Amino acid sequence: MKIARLSRLLLTSLLAGSVFAAHGAVDDDFMRVVEDTFKEADAAIGVKDAKTARTDAKELEKMFQEVVEHYARKGDAEEGVKLSRKSIELSAAIGSRVAANDFDGAAMASAELGRTCKSCHNVYKE
Ligand code: HEC
Repeated sequence: MKIARLSRLLLTSLLAGSVFAAHGAVDDDFMRVVEDTFKEADAAIGVKDAKTARTDAKELEKMFQEVVEHYARKGDAEEGVKLSRKSIELSAAIGSRVAANDFDGAAMASAELGRTCKSCHNVYKE
């Protein structure tokens, strides 16, 4: 399921040059991939599956980079830029904690990332 979505996204981004060039927005399809990836990373941290957790954390970093660009382009969306930047940092923290074999630290970063999703949804999601 997730693989299918990711490859569709990848294909779209290859064709369009960027994930958002096709949609021009942070839309539900994109966010569902974010959610699947986030959940998989969180579960992987729980079972100490470093490989999956690091791969997903990298994916999340890339996706949130797209979100930063989306809000930067949109203008007058400082909170969106701030929260998506914070999400990049937390995704990176997950990756580096896992790399250091610190799964507790990774779990904390993941929980914080979960709260950051909600903060942004409170502001921007209808
Ligand atoms: C910087 C802002 C921002 C962050 C951070 C963010 N989201 Fe979202 N998210 C949105 C917006 C905006 C929408 C609504 C998109 C729309 O309706 O077109 C949304 C929608 C969603 C949806 C709804 C899709 C549906 O089927 O209705 C899910 C699920 C979701 N986000 C998951 C996540 C998860 C998980 C994270 C954190 C790992 C996250 N989001 C982080 C802005 C954000």
